[in-house]
Amino acid sequence: MSETKRLAAEKAIDYIEDGMIVGVGTGSTVAYFIQALGRIKERIKGAVSSSEQSTALLRELGIEVLDLNSAGQLSLYVDGADECDPNKCLIKGGGAALTREKIIAEASAKFVCIVDPSKQVKVLGKFPLPVEVIPMARSLVARQIVAITGGQPVWRQDAAGNGVVTDNGNVILDIHNLAIAEPVKLENALNQIPGVVAVGLFARRKADVVIVGGEPPVVL
Ligand code: 5RP
Repeated sequence: MSETKRLAAEKAIDYIEDGMIVGVGTGSTVAYFIQALGRIKERIKGAVSSSEQSTALLRELGIEVLDLNSAGQLSLYVDGADECDPNKCLIKGGGAALTREKIIAEASAKFVCIVDPSKQVKVLGKFPLPVEVIPMARSLVARQIVAITGGQPVWRQDAAGNGVVTDNGNVILDIHNLAIAEPVKLENALNQIPGVVAVGLFARRKADVVIVGGEPPVVL
């Protein structure tokens, strides 16, 4: 499994152009991408990172991490996904970094998504859909999620049984038992609930390119 993640990640290096500031996602597939980026770091100006985790990996390899506000519009964003449908719509947020990932995807001209073959699905929703929520709105948002989707929101806990806290100080609700027939419609509906910070559906701003790891990688 991790070999196919590595193969997808290394293929994404083809999209790097000299002098670029690269948007960098989060997760185990992206960790392989960061390793590969480290090998060509002289070619890039730096990176904009979507999480504290990726920032630490980038800095370990001597890649400068820049603030999105000063970087402006980015040419390229590379990130993984938890599910990817045939239209390149995604579920993301398994690593709880969905809000910053969504911001950087929106700020980027090209979004290259790197996945192993297990992430490909016909219909999104088997992977529980993450929603980042302001802590005081957790119960309100959960009730409205049930009313809108019929799915079951579950407050994400860490291994010690404590509520997961995102890099932005918020909580995560994972919506179970969905079959998402209309991803854009659901993304828009969930975005309307007060207290929702970001929805892990990347349908309004979906991937432009999907690289599925394998020998050779498949570019969709
Ligand atoms: C983090 C994400 C990741 O891209 C997603 O969870 C996939 O992770 P991995 O590459 O470890 O399978 O959205 O918030």
